[in-house]
Amino acid sequence: MKVLTVLGARPQFIKAAPVSRALRESHTEIIVHTGQHYDANMSDIFFEELHIPKPDYHLGVGSGNHGKQTGQMLADIETIILDEKPDYLLVYGDTNSTLAGSLAAAKLHIPVIHIEAGLRSFNKKMPEEINRIMTDHVSEFLFCPTDTAVKNLHDENITKNVINVGDVMYDAVEYNRKLAADKSEILQKHDLKSKEFLLITVHRAENTDNLENITNILKAFSEIEDQKVWPIHPRTKHKLESMGFDLASIPNLLVIEPVGYLDMLTLENHAKKILTDSGGVQKEAYFMQVPCVTLREQTEWVETLESEANILVGTNVEAILEATRKEVNPKYKEVFGDAKASEKIVQAIQQ
Ligand code: UD1
Ligand code: UDP
Repeated sequence: MKVLTVLGARPQFIKAAPVSRALRESHTEIIVHTGQHYDANMSDIFFEELHIPKPDYHLGVGSGNHGKQTGQMLADIETIILDEKPDYLLVYGDTNSTLAGSLAAAKLHIPVIHIEAGLRSFNKKMPEEINRIMTDHVSEFLFCPTDTAVKNLHDENITKNVINVGDVMYDAVEYNRKLAADKSEILQKHDLKSKEFLLITVHRAENTDNLENITNILKAFSEIEDQKVWPIHPRTKHKLESMGFDLASIPNLLVIEPVGYLDMLTLENHAKKILTDSGGVQKEAYFMQVPCVTLREQTEWVETLESEANILVGTNVEAILEATRKEVNPKYKEVFGDAKASEKIVQAIQQ
């Protein structure tokens, strides 16, 4: 079987690592990197660290408005599909690279495999929500990470080949947890003490591109006394610079460049709490059993909200401060499968 995988953004590289490993045991995989993420610390570092096979095609699409970025990917992927004639096209998650890949394949009647299918925020202002809905509706195999995702698809009358295999990000965490503990020196590098710092990530357009939201978030960070570490996403860095914000004025804040996966797992594992608007980071906080505060109005990962493992606060300053300071005692459950999602996916498609 020949599978054409389309990747483009940081979380997709991480998801692809365990799936590619399982897939290549008995099948041929061709990887297309759209170039949506291109900085070395947003792309190459993950291919090297996680031993993801080098992409067979690199589209070099780069940044741009949604239409131009997605359109250029769509045209280029179509050409590759016509040349390669794959049996399946595989996409992950909900980025513009996901949509371009799934649309190109569906139009050419190549069955689409969607990993991390069925997620919904029910907020169509998010570009990711549009990408997910469109991709799910043209996919042939829909691999869901949770029961909620299965239910969301059933509610949209998508029932064929909808399978809860668990979360491939859980596979990635379990595979790399020990490697991170053995190899990462990020705590020593920045003189960080375990459980004595907060980890921050912010990159959602709804926060970075909204002056009121980003102002509130930074105000809350200024009022939190704890040591804070923020590996800053390039989108956020550029936006904050263009809006004239100065992060140096926030007390006890260490802003660092985006880090590799093993360093990120280490920061997550040793953080006292995690404040984030990332989808992947909310789940990793759950896998690591580190309390999370989510700087969004909705989350697709509703399972994490149980027993305050994750508290959804939006961008209200008081709500952020209260949730960050609150002592919580979450009960963690096995709601994301058994870290064998990748194997289950490969088994399902070869049947
Ligand atoms: C994209 C996804 C988002 C995902 C995120 C993961 C879409 C619509 N959004 O958001 O769902 O959560 O990736 O990180 O697909 N930039 C760089 N260097 C890079 C990449 C980006 O400088 O290597 C900067 C550019 O200024 C660019 C901006 O980040 O304009 C946004 O990049 P883009 O890929 O469009 O969206 P993300 O915000 O990264
Ligand atoms: N991540 C990383 N380095 C960083 C920030 C995040 O390796 O500096 C990893 C993180 O551990 C998770 C993934 O990137 O596996 C999440 O990606 P991101 O937050 O960019 O996107 P989202 O999950 O929100 O789509």
